[in-house]
Amino acid sequence: MESGFPQTRLRRLRYHAGVRRLIQATRLSPANLILPLFARPGKGVRRPIASMPGHAQLSVDLIAEQARTAAKLGLGGIILFGIPAEKDPLGSDSYSESGIVQQAVRAAKDAAPDLLVLTDVCFCEYTDHGHCGALDDHTGRVDVNNDRTLELLAQQAISHAQAGADIVAPSGMMDGMVRAIRQGLDGAGYEHLPIMSYAAKYASAFYGPFRDAAESTPQFGDRRTYQMDPAAAAEQALREVALDLAEGADFLMVKPALAYLDILRLIADRHPGVPLAAYNVSGEFAMVKAAAERGWLDERAVALESLVAIRRAGAEIILTYWAPEVARWLAE
Ligand code: PBG
Repeated sequence: MESGFPQTRLRRLRYHAGVRRLIQATRLSPANLILPLFARPGKGVRRPIASMPGHAQLSVDLIAEQARTAAKLGLGGIILFGIPAEKDPLGSDSYSESGIVQQAVRAAKDAAPDLLVLTDVCFCEYTDHGHCGALDDHTGRVDVNNDRTLELLAQQAISHAQAGADIVAPSGMMDGMVRAIRQGLDGAGYEHLPIMSYAAKYASAFYGPFRDAAESTPQFGDRRTYQMDPAAAAEQALREVALDLAEGADFLMVKPALAYLDILRLIADRHPGVPLAAYNVSGEFAMVKAAAERGWLDERAVALESLVAIRRAGAEIILTYWAPEVARWLAE
């Protein structure tokens, strides 16, 4: 039993910066952060992303440079997204040996062999219609065909593995995607390669700036038939997670992060010991940047507080566009 005031004064735990530091239970480290990067064709090309200040679509040579920087900063890794030269209905660049992501993976691994290189396994950046898989209308309604997409996802993951990816991260929210990818990888001799599943990924307006960055806005409709409804019971996330674990997921992810801290805590409590990641998405980054540009918020303080909150909610790993800055801030 806690004795009350005046025996107990919790301000004693805060009265000195050293005491506060001593009892910190949540600490940020660059080792837990993963930096998303966008690869595009060309050489020496840096095309800034207007809604994500400081970030740009980069040609493969510049991805290599960023990989070297990430390694020097001690980041946990990078995750690569590709913007291909040509899009088509099946997103075939995504599983081509000469695809943009495959080139970027090889360049990053050459430049920084010890840095973890993750790949986002999805189709929305590669399809001309912008959806996360192969379309069909056999139900009289155009939608992504789940099982046809599974075959293509396996193919894509194998091709990322062949290029040298260290972890594959499927983000399409197809039913059975982890199993299909696991079977594909195992069949191709990559049984050692981990899968980080975007297990609880919500249909979120916070992806807006990313869709500019990745040129992946759906050409019609939206993603609500595959991504989760923010208003669904929180426990639906547990069902997604249970299925992904049963299918062989090694890491779990929740996305977005800040509006879904309850989901993170729920999963962390239910599955202690399963590494849990959170994606601090483009919109979460952009709104702080925009407010900071107007002098309305202190970017550094807000970013660090947000990332601490995400870790405190149960995520060991954070994918964040602030990763390089955080590494520099923490080193100061
Ligand atoms: C899908 C994917 C998306 C993001 C990561 N992977 C976009 C989407 O589902 O529309 C969003 C990341 C962000 O907003 O930062 N390949």
